[in-house]
Amino acid sequence: MPVVVVVGMQWGDEGKGKIIDLLAENVDVVARYQGGHNAGHTICFNEKQFVLHLIPSGIFHENKLCVIGNGVVLDPQALVDEMRQLEETGVNLEGRLVISDRANIIMPYHGTSDKGRESGGGFQKIGTTGRGIGPSYADKIARAGIRACDLRDEAYLKDRLQANYQEKQKILNSLYGSELPEFNSLFDELLSYRETILKYIADTHILMRDQIALGKNILCEGAQGTMLDVDHGTYPFVTSSNSTAGGACTGLGIPPTKIDKAFGVIKAYTTRVGEGPFPTELFDGDGERLGKVGHEFGATTGRARRCGWFDAVVARYGVHLNGIDALVLTKIDVLDGFKTIKVCTGYEYKGKVFPDMPADPEILQNCKPVYAEFEGWSESTVGIQDFDRLPENAKRYIQQLSDLVETPFMMVSTGPDREQTIQLESAF
Ligand code: IMP
Repeated sequence: MPVVVVVGMQWGDEGKGKIIDLLAENVDVVARYQGGHNAGHTICFNEKQFVLHLIPSGIFHENKLCVIGNGVVLDPQALVDEMRQLEETGVNLEGRLVISDRANIIMPYHGTSDKGRESGGGFQKIGTTGRGIGPSYADKIARAGIRACDLRDEAYLKDRLQANYQEKQKILNSLYGSELPEFNSLFDELLSYRETILKYIADTHILMRDQIALGKNILCEGAQGTMLDVDHGTYPFVTSSNSTAGGACTGLGIPPTKIDKAFGVIKAYTTRVGEGPFPTELFDGDGERLGKVGHEFGATTGRARRCGWFDAVVARYGVHLNGIDALVLTKIDVLDGFKTIKVCTGYEYKGKVFPDMPADPEILQNCKPVYAEFEGWSESTVGIQDFDRLPENAKRYIQQLSDLVETPFMMVSTGPDREQTIQLESAF
Protein backbone atom coordinates (compact mmCIF):
# COMPACT_ATOMS: atom_id res chain seq x y z
CA MET A 1 0.00 0.00 0.00
CA PRO A 2 1.46 3.34 -0.98
CA VAL A 3 2.83 6.30 0.85
CA VAL A 4 2.11 9.33 -1.33
CA VAL A 5 3.11 12.97 -1.08
CA VAL A 6 0.84 15.73 -2.36
CA VAL A 7 2.52 19.06 -3.06
CA GLY A 8 1.57 22.45 -4.42
CA MET A 9 3.31 23.11 -7.73
CA GLN A 10 3.23 26.92 -7.82
CA TRP A 11 3.24 29.61 -5.09
CA GLY A 12 0.61 27.94 -2.92
CA ASP A 13 -3.18 28.30 -3.15
CA GLU A 14 -3.44 25.66 -5.89
CA GLY A 15 -6.49 24.09 -4.24
CA LYS A 16 -4.68 21.38 -2.28
CA GLY A 17 -7.30 21.37 0.49
CA LYS A 18 -10.04 20.07 -1.80
CA ILE A 19 -7.76 17.50 -3.44
CA ILE A 20 -6.35 16.15 -0.17
CA ASP A 21 -9.87 15.96 1.23
CA LEU A 22 -10.91 13.94 -1.86
CA LEU A 23 -7.89 11.62 -1.77
CA ALA A 24 -8.34 11.16 1.99
CA GLU A 25 -11.36 8.96 1.29
CA ASN A 26 -8.96 6.19 0.24
CA VAL A 27 -6.25 6.61 2.84
CA ASP A 28 -5.80 5.69 6.49
CA VAL A 29 -3.50 8.52 7.52
CA VAL A 30 -3.15 12.15 6.41
CA ALA A 31 0.04 13.78 7.71
CA ARG A 32 1.14 17.45 7.44
CA TYR A 33 4.91 17.78 7.18
CA GLN A 34 5.81 21.49 7.18
CA GLY A 35 4.58 25.06 7.50
CA GLY A 36 2.28 26.34 10.17
CA HIS A 37 -0.90 28.37 10.42
CA ASN A 38 0.32 30.48 7.49
CA ALA A 39 -1.41 27.85 5.32
CA GLY A 40 -5.09 28.02 4.48
CA HIS A 41 -6.67 24.90 3.04
CA THR A 42 -10.25 25.46 1.95
CA ILE A 43 -12.66 22.53 1.83
CA CYS A 44 -16.26 22.78 0.56
CA PHE A 45 -18.96 20.18 1.06
CA ASN A 46 -22.67 20.08 1.99
CA GLU A 47 -22.82 23.71 0.88
CA LYS A 48 -20.46 24.66 3.71
CA GLN A 49 -16.91 25.98 3.58
CA PHE A 50 -14.15 25.24 6.08
CA VAL A 51 -10.67 26.71 6.14
CA LEU A 52 -8.04 24.61 7.87
CA HIS A 53 -4.71 26.16 8.81
CA LEU A 54 -2.91 23.50 10.82
CA ILE A 55 -4.95 20.34 11.09
CA PRO A 56 -4.60 18.04 8.05
CA SER A 57 -7.27 18.21 5.38
CA GLY A 58 -8.39 14.61 6.06
CA ILE A 59 -10.09 15.52 9.30
CA PHE A 60 -13.58 15.59 7.76
CA HIS A 61 -13.42 11.88 6.98
CA GLU A 62 -14.29 9.74 9.97
CA ASN A 63 -11.76 7.17 11.15
CA LYS A 64 -8.81 8.76 9.38
CA LEU A 65 -5.77 9.44 11.47
CA CYS A 66 -4.51 13.03 11.09
CA VAL A 67 -0.90 13.72 11.99
CA ILE A 68 0.90 17.02 12.51
CA GLY A 69 4.56 16.18 11.91
CA ASN A 70 7.77 17.41 13.52
CA GLY A 71 8.42 19.64 10.49
CA VAL A 72 5.39 21.81 11.29
CA VAL A 73 5.70 24.88 13.52
CA LEU A 74 2.85 24.99 15.95
CA ASP A 75 1.09 28.07 17.28
CA PRO A 76 -0.71 26.66 20.32
CA GLN A 77 -3.41 29.32 20.34
CA ALA A 78 -4.15 28.79 16.62
CA LEU A 79 -4.21 25.05 17.21
CA VAL A 80 -6.60 25.26 20.15
CA ASP A 81 -8.88 27.64 18.21
CA GLU A 82 -8.96 25.30 15.21
CA MET A 83 -9.60 22.26 17.41
CA ARG A 84 -12.51 24.07 19.06
CA GLN A 85 -14.01 25.11 15.72
CA LEU A 86 -13.83 21.56 14.41
CA GLU A 87 -15.37 20.15 17.58
CA GLU A 88 -18.19 22.69 17.31
CA THR A 89 -18.99 21.36 13.85
CA GLY A 90 -19.21 17.83 15.27
CA VAL A 91 -15.74 16.56 14.28
CA ASN A 92 -14.30 14.19 16.85
CA LEU A 93 -10.57 14.72 17.36
CA GLU A 94 -9.79 12.27 20.15
CA GLY A 95 -7.89 9.28 18.91
CA ARG A 96 -7.75 10.85 15.44
CA LEU A 97 -5.40 13.81 15.83
CA VAL A 98 -1.77 13.16 16.74
CA ILE A 99 0.81 15.94 17.09
CA SER A 100 4.55 15.33 16.97
CA ASP A 101 6.33 15.86 20.26
CA ARG A 102 9.28 17.15 18.20
CA ALA A 103 7.33 19.99 16.55
CA ASN A 104 8.62 23.47 17.40
CA ILE A 105 6.26 25.93 19.04
CA ILE A 106 5.59 29.41 17.69
CA MET A 107 5.92 31.86 20.58
CA PRO A 108 4.39 35.35 20.72
CA TYR A 109 7.87 36.89 20.27
CA HIS A 110 8.15 35.14 16.89
CA GLY A 111 5.11 37.06 15.67
CA THR A 112 6.59 40.33 17.02
CA SER A 113 9.84 39.65 15.19
CA ASP A 114 8.04 38.68 11.94
CA LYS A 115 5.92 41.86 11.95
CA GLY A 116 8.90 43.99 13.01
CA ARG A 117 11.02 42.84 10.08
CA GLU A 118 8.14 43.34 7.69
CA SER A 119 7.53 46.89 8.82
CA GLY A 120 10.89 48.26 7.68
CA GLY A 121 14.08 48.80 9.61
CA GLY A 122 16.25 47.87 6.65
CA PHE A 123 14.99 44.32 6.24
CA GLN A 124 13.62 43.36 2.82
CA LYS A 125 9.84 43.02 2.96
CA ILE A 126 8.76 39.50 2.02
CA GLY A 127 5.01 39.99 2.40
CA THR A 128 4.76 37.25 5.03
CA THR A 129 1.53 36.22 6.70
CA GLY A 130 2.87 37.80 9.90
CA ARG A 131 2.29 34.59 11.81
CA GLY A 132 5.83 34.22 13.19
CA ILE A 133 6.67 31.34 10.85
CA GLY A 134 10.15 32.53 9.73
CA PRO A 135 11.43 33.52 13.21
CA SER A 136 10.16 30.24 14.65
CA TYR A 137 12.01 28.16 12.03
CA ALA A 138 15.05 30.41 12.54
CA ASP A 139 15.02 29.53 16.26
CA LYS A 140 14.62 25.85 15.41
CA ILE A 141 17.73 25.93 13.21
CA ALA A 142 19.58 28.07 15.78
CA ARG A 143 18.74 25.38 18.37
CA ALA A 144 16.83 27.89 20.47
CA GLY A 145 13.34 26.54 19.81
CA ILE A 146 10.83 25.23 22.33
CA ARG A 147 9.32 21.92 21.28
CA ALA A 148 5.99 20.29 22.00
CA CYS A 149 7.66 17.64 24.18
CA ASP A 150 9.00 20.42 26.43
CA LEU A 151 5.42 21.00 27.60
CA ARG A 152 5.68 17.69 29.45
CA ASP A 153 8.41 18.93 31.78
CA GLU A 154 7.57 22.17 33.57
CA ALA A 155 11.09 22.81 34.95
CA TYR A 156 12.78 22.20 31.59
CA LEU A 157 10.19 24.35 29.82
CA LYS A 158 10.90 27.19 32.26
CA ASP A 159 14.64 26.98 31.57
CA ARG A 160 14.15 26.97 27.80
CA LEU A 161 11.85 29.96 27.97
CA GLN A 162 14.14 31.81 30.38
CA ALA A 163 17.10 31.54 28.01
CA ASN A 164 15.00 32.76 25.09
CA TYR A 165 13.28 35.47 27.06
CA GLN A 166 16.42 37.41 27.90
CA GLU A 167 17.77 37.23 24.35
CA LYS A 168 14.48 38.12 22.65
CA GLN A 169 13.76 40.94 25.08
CA LYS A 170 17.05 42.64 24.18
CA ILE A 171 16.77 42.07 20.44
CA LEU A 172 13.15 43.07 20.02
CA ASN A 173 13.52 46.06 22.27
CA SER A 174 16.56 47.45 20.53
CA LEU A 175 15.31 46.75 16.99
CA TYR A 176 11.61 47.55 17.22
CA GLY A 177 11.14 49.14 20.64
CA SER A 178 8.86 46.22 21.57
CA GLU A 179 8.39 45.01 25.13
CA LEU A 180 7.75 41.33 25.71
CA PRO A 181 4.94 40.42 28.09
CA GLU A 182 6.11 39.60 31.65
CA PHE A 183 8.02 36.33 31.81
CA ASN A 184 5.45 34.76 34.14
CA SER A 185 2.55 35.66 31.88
CA LEU A 186 4.31 34.08 28.86
CA PHE A 187 5.13 30.99 30.89
CA ASP A 188 1.62 30.70 32.31
CA GLU A 189 0.21 31.04 28.81
CA LEU A 190 2.37 28.13 27.64
CA LEU A 191 1.30 26.04 30.62
CA SER A 192 -2.35 26.82 29.96
CA TYR A 193 -2.23 24.91 26.67
CA ARG A 194 -1.02 21.75 28.31
CA GLU A 195 -4.41 20.45 29.32
CA THR A 196 -5.82 20.71 25.79
CA ILE A 197 -2.76 19.76 23.79
CA LEU A 198 -0.70 17.25 25.78
CA LYS A 199 -3.06 14.34 25.25
CA TYR A 200 -2.62 14.69 21.48
CA ILE A 201 1.17 14.75 21.58
CA ALA A 202 3.14 11.63 20.71
CA ASP A 203 6.21 10.35 18.89
CA THR A 204 4.79 10.54 15.37
CA HIS A 205 7.87 8.98 13.77
CA ILE A 206 7.00 5.73 15.58
CA LEU A 207 3.37 6.08 14.60
CA MET A 208 4.29 6.58 10.92
CA ARG A 209 6.79 3.71 11.06
CA ASP A 210 4.12 1.38 12.44
CA GLN A 211 1.43 2.52 10.01
CA ILE A 212 3.82 1.93 7.09
CA ALA A 213 4.70 -1.52 8.47
CA LEU A 214 0.98 -2.33 8.66
CA GLY A 215 0.66 -1.49 4.96
CA LYS A 216 -1.66 1.47 5.48
CA ASN A 217 -2.33 4.07 2.81
CA ILE A 218 -0.62 7.27 3.87
CA LEU A 219 -0.96 10.71 2.38
CA CYS A 220 1.70 13.28 3.25
CA GLU A 221 0.21 16.74 2.91
CA GLY A 222 2.41 19.61 1.79
CA ALA A 223 1.45 23.20 2.55
CA GLN A 224 2.31 26.30 0.47
CA GLY A 225 3.92 25.39 -2.86
CA THR A 226 7.14 24.41 -4.62
CA MET A 227 8.08 28.00 -5.50
CA LEU A 228 7.83 28.98 -1.82
CA ASP A 229 10.29 26.27 -0.73
CA VAL A 230 13.13 27.82 1.27
CA ASP A 231 15.81 26.03 -0.80
CA HIS A 232 14.26 25.78 -4.23
CA GLY A 233 11.78 28.65 -4.40
CA THR A 234 12.15 32.29 -5.38
CA TYR A 235 14.48 33.05 -2.46
CA PRO A 236 14.29 35.25 -0.41
CA PHE A 237 10.59 35.58 -1.25
CA VAL A 238 9.73 32.15 0.12
CA THR A 239 8.39 30.58 3.27
CA SER A 240 10.84 29.12 5.80
CA SER A 241 10.34 25.38 5.28
CA ASN A 242 10.80 22.70 2.63
CA SER A 243 7.40 22.53 0.96
CA THR A 244 8.76 20.23 -1.77
CA ALA A 245 8.28 16.46 -1.55
CA GLY A 246 11.63 15.91 0.19
CA GLY A 247 10.21 17.81 3.17
CA ALA A 248 7.92 14.86 3.85
CA CYS A 249 10.93 12.72 4.83
CA THR A 250 12.44 15.18 7.30
CA GLY A 251 9.11 16.63 8.41
CA LEU A 252 7.57 13.28 9.31
CA GLY A 253 10.57 11.05 9.91
CA ILE A 254 9.74 8.84 6.92
CA PRO A 255 12.77 7.41 5.07
CA PRO A 256 12.94 8.33 1.35
CA THR A 257 12.87 4.64 0.46
CA LYS A 258 9.34 4.40 1.88
CA ILE A 259 7.78 7.09 -0.31
CA ASP A 260 6.05 5.51 -3.29
CA LYS A 261 4.52 8.35 -5.25
CA ALA A 262 4.30 12.12 -5.51
CA PHE A 263 1.31 14.03 -6.86
CA GLY A 264 1.34 17.71 -7.75
CA VAL A 265 -1.62 20.08 -7.54
CA ILE A 266 -1.44 22.84 -10.13
CA LYS A 267 -3.83 25.62 -11.05
CA ALA A 268 -4.82 26.22 -14.70
CA TYR A 269 -3.26 29.69 -14.31
CA THR A 270 -0.88 31.12 -11.70
CA THR A 271 -1.27 33.18 -8.53
CA ARG A 272 0.98 34.37 -5.75
CA VAL A 273 0.50 36.40 -2.55
CA GLY A 274 3.13 38.62 -1.02
CA GLU A 275 6.22 40.11 -2.64
CA GLY A 276 8.67 38.52 -5.07
CA PRO A 277 9.17 37.75 -8.74
CA PHE A 278 6.28 36.39 -10.77
CA PRO A 279 7.24 36.28 -14.47
CA THR A 280 3.74 35.67 -15.90
CA GLU A 281 1.95 38.21 -13.68
CA LEU A 282 -0.76 40.17 -15.49
CA PHE A 283 -1.50 43.81 -14.80
CA ASP A 284 -4.40 44.09 -17.24
CA GLY A 285 -8.06 43.14 -17.52
CA ASP A 286 -7.18 39.44 -17.96
CA GLY A 287 -5.39 39.41 -14.59
CA GLU A 288 -8.30 41.21 -12.94
CA ARG A 289 -10.72 38.73 -14.44
CA LEU A 290 -8.74 35.72 -13.19
CA GLY A 291 -8.73 37.22 -9.70
CA LYS A 292 -12.42 38.03 -9.74
CA VAL A 293 -13.74 34.81 -11.27
CA GLY A 294 -11.25 32.68 -9.31
CA HIS A 295 -12.05 34.44 -6.00
CA GLU A 296 -8.33 34.92 -5.54
CA PHE A 297 -8.12 36.19 -2.00
CA GLY A 298 -5.85 34.60 0.61
CA ALA A 299 -7.60 32.04 2.83
CA THR A 300 -5.38 33.07 5.78
CA THR A 301 -4.88 36.81 5.42
CA GLY A 302 -7.64 37.82 2.96
CA ARG A 303 -5.04 39.57 0.78
CA ALA A 304 -5.75 39.84 -2.96
CA ARG A 305 -3.60 37.34 -4.86
CA ARG A 306 -1.57 38.46 -7.86
CA CYS A 307 -2.71 36.59 -10.99
CA GLY A 308 -1.07 35.50 -14.25
CA TRP A 309 -0.92 32.87 -16.97
CA PHE A 310 0.17 29.26 -16.50
CA ASP A 311 3.93 28.99 -16.32
CA ALA A 312 5.34 25.77 -17.77
CA VAL A 313 8.87 26.67 -16.57
CA VAL A 314 7.53 26.61 -13.00
CA ALA A 315 5.53 23.43 -13.69
CA ARG A 316 8.46 21.52 -15.23
CA TYR A 317 10.72 22.61 -12.38
CA GLY A 318 8.17 21.32 -9.87
CA VAL A 319 7.75 18.02 -11.72
CA HIS A 320 11.48 17.35 -11.54
CA LEU A 321 12.10 18.65 -8.01
CA ASN A 322 9.23 16.66 -6.55
CA GLY A 323 9.43 13.60 -8.82
CA ILE A 324 5.79 14.06 -9.76
CA ASP A 325 4.02 10.92 -11.05
CA ALA A 326 0.73 12.63 -11.90
CA LEU A 327 -0.79 16.09 -11.68
CA VAL A 328 -4.15 17.42 -10.58
CA LEU A 329 -5.31 20.44 -12.56
CA THR A 330 -7.51 22.83 -10.60
CA LYS A 331 -9.77 25.78 -11.48
CA ILE A 332 -10.01 25.06 -15.21
CA ASP A 333 -13.51 26.62 -15.05
CA VAL A 334 -11.96 30.02 -14.23
CA LEU A 335 -10.65 30.11 -17.82
CA ASP A 336 -14.16 29.74 -19.29
CA GLY A 337 -14.89 32.57 -21.72
CA PHE A 338 -11.30 33.67 -22.41
CA LYS A 339 -10.81 34.11 -26.17
CA THR A 340 -7.10 33.36 -25.97
CA ILE A 341 -5.19 31.64 -23.21
CA LYS A 342 -1.43 32.01 -22.88
CA VAL A 343 1.14 29.63 -21.44
CA CYS A 344 4.73 30.60 -20.68
CA THR A 345 7.27 28.17 -22.14
CA GLY A 346 10.54 29.94 -21.31
CA TYR A 347 12.03 33.15 -19.86
CA GLU A 348 13.81 35.58 -22.16
CA TYR A 349 16.53 37.65 -20.53
CA LYS A 350 19.13 39.73 -22.39
CA GLY A 351 18.56 37.83 -25.64
CA LYS A 352 18.82 34.37 -24.06
CA VAL A 353 15.87 32.05 -23.45
CA PHE A 354 15.92 30.09 -20.18
CA PRO A 355 13.87 26.88 -20.39
CA ASP A 356 14.74 26.07 -16.74
CA MET A 357 14.22 27.99 -13.52
CA PRO A 358 17.08 30.44 -12.89
CA ALA A 359 18.23 31.11 -9.31
CA ASP A 360 19.14 34.77 -9.86
CA PRO A 361 16.49 37.21 -8.60
CA GLU A 362 17.61 39.74 -11.23
CA ILE A 363 16.75 37.35 -14.10
CA LEU A 364 13.46 36.27 -12.53
CA GLN A 365 12.45 39.84 -11.85
CA ASN A 366 13.32 41.25 -15.26
CA CYS A 367 12.85 38.38 -17.71
CA LYS A 368 10.13 38.42 -20.36
CA PRO A 369 7.93 35.32 -20.58
CA VAL A 370 7.90 33.56 -23.95
CA TYR A 371 4.28 32.64 -24.60
CA ALA A 372 2.47 29.94 -26.55
CA GLU A 373 -1.14 30.90 -27.32
CA PHE A 374 -4.17 28.63 -27.20
CA GLU A 375 -7.71 29.20 -28.37
CA GLY A 376 -10.15 29.50 -25.47
CA TRP A 377 -13.73 28.20 -25.14
CA SER A 378 -17.01 29.99 -24.55
CA GLU A 379 -18.94 27.15 -22.85
CA SER A 380 -19.10 26.69 -19.08
CA THR A 381 -17.02 23.87 -17.62
CA VAL A 382 -18.33 24.41 -14.06
CA GLY A 383 -19.12 21.13 -12.34
CA ILE A 384 -18.31 18.86 -15.33
CA GLN A 385 -17.44 15.34 -14.12
CA ASP A 386 -16.70 13.64 -17.42
CA PHE A 387 -13.63 14.59 -19.49
CA ASP A 388 -15.48 13.94 -22.76
CA ARG A 389 -18.04 16.60 -21.87
CA LEU A 390 -15.43 19.36 -21.73
CA PRO A 391 -15.34 21.79 -24.68
CA GLU A 392 -12.85 20.63 -27.36
CA ASN A 393 -10.53 23.59 -26.72
CA ALA A 394 -10.48 22.89 -22.97
CA LYS A 395 -9.50 19.28 -23.69
CA ARG A 396 -6.82 20.51 -26.05
CA TYR A 397 -5.53 23.00 -23.44
CA ILE A 398 -5.23 20.24 -20.82
CA GLN A 399 -3.49 17.93 -23.29
CA GLN A 400 -1.03 20.66 -24.30
CA LEU A 401 -0.19 21.41 -20.66
CA SER A 402 0.39 17.73 -20.07
CA ASP A 403 2.69 17.56 -23.13
CA LEU A 404 4.59 20.69 -22.07
CA VAL A 405 5.34 19.32 -18.62
CA GLU A 406 5.63 15.70 -19.79
CA THR A 407 3.34 14.48 -17.01
CA PRO A 408 -0.22 13.09 -17.07
CA PHE A 409 -3.18 14.61 -15.27
CA MET A 410 -5.03 12.25 -12.96
CA MET A 411 -7.80 14.69 -11.99
CA VAL A 412 -9.25 17.94 -13.22
CA SER A 413 -11.18 20.13 -10.80
CA THR A 414 -14.13 22.06 -12.23
CA GLY A 415 -15.34 23.81 -9.07
CA PRO A 416 -14.77 24.00 -5.32
CA ASP A 417 -17.08 21.15 -4.27
CA ARG A 418 -16.00 17.54 -3.89
CA GLU A 419 -18.35 16.45 -6.69
CA GLN A 420 -17.06 19.03 -9.18
CA THR A 421 -14.20 16.82 -10.28
CA ILE A 422 -13.15 14.81 -13.34
CA GLN A 423 -11.37 11.63 -12.33
CA LEU A 424 -8.97 10.44 -15.02
CA GLU A 425 -6.81 7.97 -13.15
CA SER A 426 -7.01 6.47 -9.71
CA ALA A 427 -4.39 7.66 -7.22
CA PHE A 428 -4.33 4.41 -5.26
P1 IMP B 1 5.40 33.23 5.73
O1 IMP B 1 5.24 31.80 5.40
O2 IMP B 1 4.27 33.80 6.55
O3 IMP B 1 6.74 33.54 6.31
O4 IMP B 1 5.34 34.05 4.34
C1 IMP B 1 6.34 33.93 3.34
C2 IMP B 1 5.72 33.98 1.95
O5 IMP B 1 4.96 32.79 1.74
C3 IMP B 1 4.75 35.15 1.74
O6 IMP B 1 4.83 35.54 0.38
C4 IMP B 1 3.40 34.51 1.98
O7 IMP B 1 2.36 35.20 1.33
C5 IMP B 1 3.62 33.13 1.39
N1 IMP B 1 2.74 32.11 1.95
C6 IMP B 1 2.83 31.52 3.16
N2 IMP B 1 1.87 30.60 3.32
C7 IMP B 1 1.16 30.60 2.18
C8 IMP B 1 0.06 29.82 1.71
O8 IMP B 1 -0.47 28.92 2.39
N3 IMP B 1 -0.40 30.11 0.46
C9 IMP B 1 0.20 31.05 -0.32
N4 IMP B 1 1.23 31.80 0.07
C10 IMP B 1 1.72 31.56 1.31
